[in-house]
This record gives sequence, C-alpha cells and structure tokens, in this order.
Amino acid sequence: MRPTVAAALGVEVSVLQSGMGGVAGTELACAVSEAGAAGCVGGYKLLDDALSTVLARVTAGTDRPVGVNLIPEVVGPDDLDRQVAQVLAETPPRVYLSFFGLPDDAVLDRVVAAGRRLVVQIGTVEDGVHAARWGAVVVAQGIEAGGHLLGTSHRDELVAALRALLPGTCLVAAGGVGSPAEAARALAAGADGVLLGTAFVVAHESRAHGHFKTAVTAAGAADTVITDVYEIGWPGRRHRVLATPVTERPGQAGKFIGRTVVEGKPYLVPRFSAAVPTDATSGRIEEMAMYCGNSCGALSEERSAADVVAGFASVLPDAQAIEHVKGMNSHGR
Ligand SMILES: Cc1cc2nc3c(=O)[nH]c(=O)nc-3n(C[C@H](O)[C@H](O)[C@H](O)COP(=O)(O)O)c2cc1C
Repeated sequence: MRPTVAAALGVEVSVLQSGMGGVAGTELACAVSEAGAAGCVGGYKLLDDALSTVLARVTAGTDRPVGVNLIPEVVGPDDLDRQVAQVLAETPPRVYLSFFGLPDDAVLDRVVAAGRRLVVQIGTVEDGVHAARWGAVVVAQGIEAGGHLLGTSHRDELVAALRALLPGTCLVAAGGVGSPAEAARALAAGADGVLLGTAFVVAHESRAHGHFKTAVTAAGAADTVITDVYEIGWPGRRHRVLATPVTERPGQAGKFIGRTVVEGKPYLVPRFSAAVPTDATSGRIEEMAMYCGNSCGALSEERSAADVVAGFASVLPDAQAIEHVKGMNSHGR
C-alpha cells in the first residue's frame, strides 16, 4: 500500500502549505506545522546569511516536520546547489526539501542521499513520473493554481493521469483548492492530499500585504487571469494573478511603483516585477503581482493557519488526525 501524505512527510494531516516566496515566512510555516500539517518556508532567492537566518528561525519555531521551498529555474544551478547545501548542513533531518519544478537529477540524488524527505511540484505527466523515481511526494499542479504555472492541464486530469501510471506514489493535488469539497474532488481523482497556496495567503500568519489579503477574500475565480506580464525577476512563465490595471494595460511604462524590504535589505519594486506585495511593501500595491488561484472563490475571510488546516482535515484520509487537530485548536495552539 502506498503511504499517505501524512506518513510520507511525518505529519498528521495530509495538507501541504505552499512555500510561497515573500508570503510564506517562518511564522506561517511554523503555525501550519504546529497545527499538524506540512508547513513550508519560501526560500526563493535567499542565500548565505539571509537564508541561514530563515533556517534558524524555522527550526527554532517548531519541533515538527517543516519544509524549505526552492525554485530551480529562478536561481539557476549554481545558486540552487548552494541553497541545497545550506539547507542540508544547517537544518535537522525533520526539515524536508520542496522544489517548484523538477531540479537536475544530481540535486535529487543529493537530497535523497542525505536522507531528506523530498517534495517536487510538477505540471506535466512526464515530470511527475521522473520525480517519482526518486521517491518524491509528487505535487500535481493544475492551471487552476495561483502563481506560476508549470503546465497546461487541469488539476484533476493531471492527477488522474499520474495516478494511473504511478499506483504506488504519494500524489498531492494543487490548484484551485479553497474548500473541503474541492479537496474531496481532488481525492476522488486519485490524490492522497492537497497543497494549498492561496488559502494560506489569507492566513493571519501570512506575510501578504493587507490589500492583497483583502483583494483575495473579495475575489472570485473570474477575477483572476493567466498572464506573463509580471516577468521581472522570474521571466518566461505564465502565472495566475488577480486582474490589475497592469494586466489590463500591459503597454505601460516600466517605472518603479513601490519599495519593499527582504530580510533587512531595501529594494525598489518596478512595474512588472514578479515579487508579491508583502507586509514590508509600500506603493501601488494594487498594480503588483497578486498571485491568486481559482480557490479564492471559496475564501471569504482571514483565518488562522490552524483553522485553515482543521477545516481541511475532515475530508482527508488520516481519520485519526481529525480529532487530534480539533483538540489542538480547542487548547488554543
Ligand atoms: C502568492 C503565491 C506565491 C507562490 N509562490 C510559490 C513559490 O515561491 N514556490 C512554489 O513552489 N510555489 C509557489 N506558488 C504556487 C503554489 O505552490 C501552488 O501551485 C498554488 O498556490 C496552488 O493553487 P492555489 O493557490 O489555488 O492553492 C505560489 C502561489 C501563490 C498563490
């Protein structure tokens, strides 16, 4: 029998929180892991001291399994090697590695040889089959997803196609899951659990800018668009975002529209930047890249990360986890 997500990652609830660069800081990752699911901090472009600070914070913030998300195509092979080396050297074995897109085989070998749990998000059947060879938890991302899109398939079509080819692989569905009913649909297609991005953008512990959170809770799927205009810092990918004056009029001048701070360093934000607006961003937030999945239609208010996890626990396969999570919430954890 294949492992449940909970068994594969050593957690109690088969929910993965997406490691979202800028948005998923250590507070969110630790809160999700403390609630019994798989929290994950966004590693994005962090390196050296900035990455060390985040790794120290996330391991100090929870004793439970928790992940670090890395994006091979954003940093390139050399910096990815440095990031992976740092995570392996500076964190305990309960920290899993999560990749957005398939990294090189040498990277997969290194993570597996180090005995770390491995999560790989893919958007095609071919990449999913490849990742499964390394024993990865395979996250199948459909085009309903918020953020950068790895493929062109609908979530449940991709899940079903992978399940047919990979009966023994732990498979997770991503894209458009904002409610337990939608999670149940993904499970019916063959998934063992779900990965949530947008649902955690609006968690109290997320670092998304307040305007971004409010816009997500007010939006429906029809308010999102797939576009490639937010390309500065992450070129060559389409992404699903909330429609903005920039997606509606992409011909505007590419001038600076705001400022932000990342791990203590100040940056100017140009129009068309791929960086999401965080609680450290100021300026024209309403023009920035507000990644958002079709899941937004089911999200009407900001909640704690623990409440988000508990809401999904009831439909997931780890029945014994449900009472446990409810118990943790009633004790105010
Ligand atoms: C604001 C935001 C930022 C994201 N950043 C990342 C990231 O840094 N790394 C990653 O693996 N996925 C990232 N994603 C994509 C998610 O992993 C996932 O595919 C998506 O959120 C699933 O769809 P949903 O948003 O409807 O739940 C991001 C998604 C959002 C909404």
